[in-house]
Amino acid sequence: MLSISVHELSRWRKKQLSKGGDNQSLFMLLECIGGISKSDLNSLALNNERNLNINKELDYLESIWEDHLFNSCPIQYLCETAFWRDLKLKVTDKVLIPRSETELIVDIVVKIFEKKSQNIFFAELGTGSGAISIALALTYPSWNGIATDIDKDVLEIATSNFINSSKQSNLKFYCGDWWSPFESYKGKIDLAISNPPYIPKDTYQKLPKEVKNFEPKIALLGGEDGLKHIREIIDKAPLFLREKGWLILENHYDQGEKVKQLLIKNKFKSVEIVNDLSGVGRFTIGRYK
Ligand SMILES: C[S@@+](CC[C@H](N)C(=O)[O-])C[C@H]1O[C@@H](n2cnc3c(N)ncnc32)[C@H](O)[C@@H]1O
Repeated sequence: MLSISVHELSRWRKKQLSKGGDNQSLFMLLECIGGISKSDLNSLALNNERNLNINKELDYLESIWEDHLFNSCPIQYLCETAFWRDLKLKVTDKVLIPRSETELIVDIVVKIFEKKSQNIFFAELGTGSGAISIALALTYPSWNGIATDIDKDVLEIATSNFINSSKQSNLKFYCGDWWSPFESYKGKIDLAISNPPYIPKDTYQKLPKEVKNFEPKIALLGGEDGLKHIREIIDKAPLFLREKGWLILENHYDQGEKVKQLLIKNKFKSVEIVNDLSGVGRFTIGRYK
């Protein structure tokens, strides 16, 4: 085990931040690869001569930091970790880095289903790292859920994230195209959730490097107008939802009204656009009849 003084580490941190990037990302690197947490550092901040154990040489950490800064590689991929709500999830470049705005989906569900005792069967379409479904399975141990994705490698990551976050067995993972893994659950789903790929083609071409060059295209691109997958999910939802079952969708910042009309056209009731914390109509929800 290597050792370093608090003083030396704080000089190193200043030097790294002078090249660019933000404190939070540097803390993530130190915690996930260096093995030094933010709380270790805070508790020793006034004790400059004390020594800390560190997993890797500073030169090695610096090379990763520079990869992040100069090649625009997301720090989450370099650390193979994303913090989302109270979960610590493994992420590789096979899965989308779960976004902070998506955390609100769990709050929307909690608002709809206040009573924890209800036995709800939920489905997530396009689970990626598993973030949403894992959070729901942990919040509601009496619920049962199925999370799907088109990509087998993605499901391996989601499954290991569930195993590492919980001892529960109330979440299963299946591979398949949108609703296809749910053939035997027609009319039985109480709640379906999806954050599908919804970026329109033109917008996709102009995405920042750190997204376009690193995150999976299949997780982002929603066809010509961004609504290709949302349309398919909404069109088939009535076959799978139970009467009065809910559908919760995340959409691009400007798609709320169009998604609302698609839900209404498919006979959904209680249709509502829900804002994210920046006031953007990020989610559209509805209840099937
Ligand atoms: C925007 S990501 C969302 C990931 C995760 N749910 C989240 O919120 O971070 C969309 C996910 O849908 C998956 N996907 C894309 N096309 C699909 C399809 N036809 N059927 C099922 N899943 C699909 C992608 O592999 C990706 O994991």
